[in-house]
Amino acid sequence: MDKDFLSIHDLMPGDVEDILDLAANLKAMQESGVPHRYLEGKTLGMIFEKSSTRTRVSFEVGMYQLGGSALFLSSHDTQLGRGEPIRDTARVLSRYLDGIMIRTFAHETAVELAEWAGIPVINALTDLLHPCQVMADFLTLREHKGKDLSSLKVAFVGDGNNMANSYLYGAAKTGMTLVVATPKTHQPDKTVVKNALKDAKNTGASITLTTDPAEAVKDADVVVTDTWASMGQEAEHDKRKKIFAPYQVNTALMKKADRRAIVMHCLPAYRGEEITDEVFEANANVIFDEAENRLHAQKAIMTLLMG
Ligand code: CP
Ligand code: NVA
Repeated sequence: MDKDFLSIHDLMPGDVEDILDLAANLKAMQESGVPHRYLEGKTLGMIFEKSSTRTRVSFEVGMYQLGGSALFLSSHDTQLGRGEPIRDTARVLSRYLDGIMIRTFAHETAVELAEWAGIPVINALTDLLHPCQVMADFLTLREHKGKDLSSLKVAFVGDGNNMANSYLYGAAKTGMTLVVATPKTHQPDKTVVKNALKDAKNTGASITLTTDPAEAVKDADVVVTDTWASMGQEAEHDKRKKIFAPYQVNTALMKKADRRAIVMHCLPAYRGEEITDEVFEANANVIFDEAENRLHAQKAIMTLLMG
């Protein structure tokens, strides 16, 4: 693997499988009480410029279970929030830590941090990508739908946001069939689509964009959705609710998917908006496995990068 984990697009052939295999092993070890202190004495710095429940807790607990420790670094109370350049922060933190996790706005901030840091940098969500979440989703898919991800048809329905972009990269690397349904005005990032289509040629993945949610979910094994207003878009919430209304994942839409189809959601979920309470609760076992799997997938990524 590369020094950093910023984007699934950067991964070498076989990296996705290696991460998922290790994640499954670490999960089994944790469940059976087998010690796996692969990061004994190591410290992860966790830079947060946006809110988080799952990411913060799963990275911190993950480091603890691996024998290391984690430091929460909010931009509100570090000098980052007062304008210290990212390249200086990177060089300072590299003198104390063994790895850095960052959740920020511009993807370029995470890239710049990685360029200047002498230690691994993990992307824990940018406006462009949320790769740790998609690795957790893929681990969940393996558990619920079998190991061969390339046999699955996945429909992503809603906003062409950081999750949609990361699914494009993930599907392209694993040979999945992915259909992304968004309004014309909110399609995934153009460069991401171009890169994913290029990767898809090597793996046989099938990637389609549509504006029709019914077409996307037709015979799908998995339906994925996410909030219609991502962090930083709160002011547009009411406008977005109207635009995305036809993209709600509800029982009528799910009837068009395969009858054994599962629904995934990275959380937090807004019931009555992108997903109905009925569909959410019918898939709660999968959705909370998905949340749990953040822990195991990230433990694998940290072990591979920092071990
Ligand atoms: N899914 C996810 O990243 O959740 P948090 O924003 O709570 O970390
Ligand atoms: N797309 C959402 C994901 C939250 C985990 C956001 O960026 O806010």
